[in-house]
Amino acid sequence: MTFLPNNTSGRMRRIPMALVTASMLALTGCSQQQPSSDAAQTQRGDLTIWPVIESPVAKDPAMEQAIDALLAQMTLPQKIAQMIQPEIRDITVEDMRSYGFGSFLNGGGAFPNDDKYATPQDWIALAEAMYQASMDDAINGISIPTMWGTDAVHGHNNVIGATIFPHNIGLGAAKNPDLIERIAEVTAREVMATGIDWVFAPTVAVARDPRWGRTYESYSEDPEIVRSYSAAIVRGLQGAADADFLSDRRVISTVKHFVGDGGTTHGIDQGDAEVSEQELFDIHAQGYVGGLSAGAQTVMATFNSWNGKKIHGDHYLLTQVLKERMGFDGLVVGDWNGHGQIPGCSNADCPQAALAGLDIFMVPTDAWKPLYYNLIEQVENGVIPMSRIDDAVRRILRVKKRAGLFDKPSPANRPLAGRLELIGAAEHRAVAREAVRQSLVLLKNQNQLLPLDPRQHLLVTGPGADNIGQQSGGWTISWQGTGNTNEDFPGGTSIYGGIARQVAAAGGSVELSEDGSYQQRPDVAIVVFGEEPYAEGNGDIDNLEYQRGNKTDLALLQQLQAEGIPVVALFISGRPMWVNPELNASDAFVAIWLPGSEGEGVADVILRDANGAVQHDFHGRLTFSWPATPQQAVVNRFDADYQPLLPYGFGLRYGDADVLGDSLPVEVTQDETLSDLVVFERAPRSPWQLFLHSGEQSAAVTSSVQELPGLYSRTFDRLVQEDARRFVFDGGQLARLSFISAFPRDLRGYGEANSQLVVELQRQGAVPDEVWLGMHCNADCQGAVNIANELKAAADGEWTQLAVPLQCLQQQGLSLQQVFSAMYLETEGALTLSLADVRIVAQQQAADNISCP
Ligand code: BGC
Ligand code: BGC
Repeated sequence: MTFLPNNTSGRMRRIPMALVTASMLALTGCSQQQPSSDAAQTQRGDLTIWPVIESPVAKDPAMEQAIDALLAQMTLPQKIAQMIQPEIRDITVEDMRSYGFGSFLNGGGAFPNDDKYATPQDWIALAEAMYQASMDDAINGISIPTMWGTDAVHGHNNVIGATIFPHNIGLGAAKNPDLIERIAEVTAREVMATGIDWVFAPTVAVARDPRWGRTYESYSEDPEIVRSYSAAIVRGLQGAADADFLSDRRVISTVKHFVGDGGTTHGIDQGDAEVSEQELFDIHAQGYVGGLSAGAQTVMATFNSWNGKKIHGDHYLLTQVLKERMGFDGLVVGDWNGHGQIPGCSNADCPQAALAGLDIFMVPTDAWKPLYYNLIEQVENGVIPMSRIDDAVRRILRVKKRAGLFDKPSPANRPLAGRLELIGAAEHRAVAREAVRQSLVLLKNQNQLLPLDPRQHLLVTGPGADNIGQQSGGWTISWQGTGNTNEDFPGGTSIYGGIARQVAAAGGSVELSEDGSYQQRPDVAIVVFGEEPYAEGNGDIDNLEYQRGNKTDLALLQQLQAEGIPVVALFISGRPMWVNPELNASDAFVAIWLPGSEGEGVADVILRDANGAVQHDFHGRLTFSWPATPQQAVVNRFDADYQPLLPYGFGLRYGDADVLGDSLPVEVTQDETLSDLVVFERAPRSPWQLFLHSGEQSAAVTSSVQELPGLYSRTFDRLVQEDARRFVFDGGQLARLSFISAFPRDLRGYGEANSQLVVELQRQGAVPDEVWLGMHCNADCQGAVNIANELKAAADGEWTQLAVPLQCLQQQGLSLQQVFSAMYLETEGALTLSLADVRIVAQQQAADNISCP
């Protein structure tokens, strides 16, 4: 078959895809069928692997009695309300008054009054109003103070003007638990100044595959430092159990996300950690050992699965391991509608999570209301035993009692509340700047180019030079960290700003330009460049090559080198990346990670003082192995065959000899080992979820039979039980099935490997003239081919394999960088078709002549 370009103009109308991507997943709750893979059968249940942990916060019999008394008085709706945590964008103060939620949160990029520029007073006003609403209208004679949780994950990062600390990956490189504890203490003070009680940190993920977009939230690929840091952060946030534990200066902490978030296969966010129970403990649970030993009061359940089972619904891990065996007596909070991902659940309906041991449902969106009523009904019907509800509420009340919430004044009247001078205070920024200094890792320093004499003429250039938003990364004011300008960081300093100040003070001169141009030939060029901000999901990539296919920063480095100017590269990134070409094109190269608002910490280390003395030597060492190839994503300390470019623990000091040279290999070899991307094999494979769309309606496929007007689907047995799925399109309206991911996936590697979309299908009966098979990228971006002829050619009722080169879809407009739907099939006609298997298969070799349907 030779390729005939498709005449796209005659194509049928398409269902706008924006309707069915992330926003839709949020609305529907998108229950997901789990693959019943062999891995799912992996042994679980060896409790002896898990230690018993003695919390320094002992149970207080008088407090337990007081809780008993409360529980005895509370109505069922009051108890359920304690278990519901809605989001500030979805409830009003009046909702708080009517329902009495036990807690609420603001998600990343959610502000009081929906105002990015909300002042600290606005934050306090909302805290006060919510608190008063939970207290003033005693239901049944009982008032229980609500509490507010926020993602202060590198400082109080949702609040304009707050001190923004380096992200965890940089703090890991600093290897300094004492510094980490001070950072947490400072963060607690800034949070307390806005009247908020509870912080969703620390993240103790041990990221084993830096393709994961949350790698920068991880301190290390190795559990050692994560364990000690977790204890330090918890102490810094909550106070030590024997000192000012949860005093007026402290906040409740959350160790997250329990457990295995850093261990998902291919580093896929919310994916599946396919590891043994021993490894789950040895590598991924060490942060819980540290955090619980320091008295952490809350743990957040993770989105990911462990060997095919979603942890929000995992009774073994949440209840038997964490609560019973490890002895955790605080509360388990869910993650952002994570319960809705349990098979058979939706955001609005999920007794399974409560039964598994979830104490608080984090339920943003408008799902909180049906969830609340459903839970009440499920207790009344005996689906959830009252004893489980009492246990959950007891834990919630215990945390509140320990935090003194029943006794403390209201948020606006607490000692630190309204002390606006604390937000971004000079002494807080000094701690952040110290953290920046300690986090920098020197990878290359040829001819001892660094430290620089500030009395010279310096050029500071590159897209990151004067860009506090970029140097701060995700979870900064906005959720993804995008859309911020330097004006959004009052009191903050860019990298350029810090260098300029010190150079001016020393009597030298600086020029700033983004593109490497200059008025006066510089003695040295400092080039600041790296990753743009991203957070969860959106930050997942498929290999570690920096600026694949678009090496504008390399061109800048090379241009300066060609002019004979010594080049210092300052690399902003949330993970180690393959930068061999950029290393070759630099005389000195520093991994500066995501330093946050105090960019002057960089100048403190790379510049000498006015008298020519070193101000601060480098201190940081890699806590992530640096990759030797773009594909070397899974390379970790203690691996049997460990051959990174630079090992765990690497970090030059001034005077150390260079180890890299200028001729690192830059040839990018095709990934020989690219494995099949399985989209559907017996069931949809994470992160892909099956959706049906028909006319204006959509539904996540959550059970074996699913029906919309005009489109019906059910499972049936092909070789083994329920291993195939039939779809009946009635015709007369446009209908579609699609496998969708909540976050776009980067599939460029499959494009480069000449992959094909391979679908195993069977048609029954007549085939309409248009049946479109395609993939979908961002809004208004897709590629599809009409497979009607191929279907007609296939024998009726016989299984056939259809392979479409991704190139065919790319020619029709598909971009592989951000794929939301890995396969969809749509038609306006009547069609009965079954699917048994959908996958993307790397061919490696380019065919001479690709043939498209
Ligand atoms: C993240 C959590 C965060 C929560 C609330 C989730 O998507 O996984 O880390 O605490 O959102 O913003
Ligand atoms: C929200 C953020 C939230 C995140 C958690 C996003 O849709 O806008 O506020 O933190 O989800 O996953």
